[in-house]
Amino acid sequence: MERCHSSVPRGIHHFTPVFVSRAGGAILEDVDGNLLLDFAGGIGCMNVGHRAPALVQAVRDQLERHLHTCFHVTPYEGYVRLAERLNALAPGDFPKKTLLLNSGAEAVENAVKVARAYTGRSAVICFEDAFHGRTLLAMSLTSKTHPYKRGFEPGVGEVFRVPYAYCYRCTYSLRYPQCGVHCAYHLEDTFRRTVAAESVAAIIVEPVLGEGGFVSPPAEFFAALQDICRKRGIVLIADEVQTGFGRTGSLFACEKLGFEPDLLVTAKSLGGGLPISALTGRAEMMDAPEPGGLGGTFGGNPLACAAALSVIEMFVPSDGKKVGGLDLSSRAGTLGERFVARARSWQQRWPAIGDIRGLGAMQAIELVKEPVTREPATEETARIVRACYERGLVLLSAGSYGNVLRILSPLVITDEQFEEGLSVIESAIASVGFVESSVSA
Ligand SMILES: Cc1ncc(COP(=O)(O)O)c(C=O)c1O
Repeated sequence: MERCHSSVPRGIHHFTPVFVSRAGGAILEDVDGNLLLDFAGGIGCMNVGHRAPALVQAVRDQLERHLHTCFHVTPYEGYVRLAERLNALAPGDFPKKTLLLNSGAEAVENAVKVARAYTGRSAVICFEDAFHGRTLLAMSLTSKTHPYKRGFEPGVGEVFRVPYAYCYRCTYSLRYPQCGVHCAYHLEDTFRRTVAAESVAAIIVEPVLGEGGFVSPPAEFFAALQDICRKRGIVLIADEVQTGFGRTGSLFACEKLGFEPDLLVTAKSLGGGLPISALTGRAEMMDAPEPGGLGGTFGGNPLACAAALSVIEMFVPSDGKKVGGLDLSSRAGTLGERFVARARSWQQRWPAIGDIRGLGAMQAIELVKEPVTREPATEETARIVRACYERGLVLLSAGSYGNVLRILSPLVITDEQFEEGLSVIESAIASVGFVESSVSA
């Protein structure tokens, strides 16, 4: 750790002070031989589990063939095959094309480039509590100030931020469903008072907030956004970097929520541990930039394509047979239900559990000092994460106030491992001294 501190900038923060030597399934082994249960999955990248055997084999096979030629120089079939599979699987019954890149932020940047090239408009609307990455445009689309934006200003211009459907902390102090998803329809007011609709190239939205605290809006919110975008000629971009590849109980969260984005951004669990991201969208939009306007040296690297193809095969096998009989998407639903059941029992005991929310296996609890004021329990949340680590569980916090505990365990986690992880969270919550409810006492 001392070597790390003296050789790596402090800006690249780490949550868990261990050095990993091996990983498999939902278990990490550190350099001292300690085993840790992984509820973080490298921030939502390991839905198929660490070193999934089929993926390791696919990467090994590719290693024997070629590592890099650059798709701009000499194309290879893996890139095209992955594009074909993503085009076929992304929601929307219209012709699609896919561009491959390296990271979530890079795919977000390219989504905005495509939307601008297609519409000839410049503005982008994004949401409060959104996270879209750390590169300059992605950072500008990101909401949280510290540590993501402060000191790196100015951000990119023509970015406008509006409230998300964060019902637990509604900006308009309204209640769902009586509110009629006012936050979405308020965009019409934004077009009058902030930026003209005909200047807006794109609206970018996460179907469930990732870093923003696993806020999971009602489906009507997305129906309204889609409606407004279609009416106003605005490109709807779904950022599914964290929600994608089975996390929410279907391959993409937008399927679950019943909307069809024009452009779909994926990364993280697409690569099952290798760096790859994708931008999949309406063919006429994707073809708007001229030849050479999109791409990059490593985008769609052959090893990463092989890994991504095997991830897709695990979710949607071409021969219709589930790998090892495990349906990962329905497994996500089961894990989510188990989490909610345990979290409800915690809420009975500790009123500090202000909100339980999520979609599929993308579940979280928001912790507050007490339920009436909803003052964020930021410090206690950090102590719980630390206590989990000390008990052998890797867990991440999230949220603009740092008071949300989220689960991103591999979907291949066993029932016993999952229950053990939940018991560790329970004992960690018990260790921080939250007031217990008189009913349960
Ligand atoms: C929703 C979302 N978009 C974009 C990103 C950025 O992805 P990357 O870190 O691969 O650039 C993230 C990363 O956490 C994310 O959660």
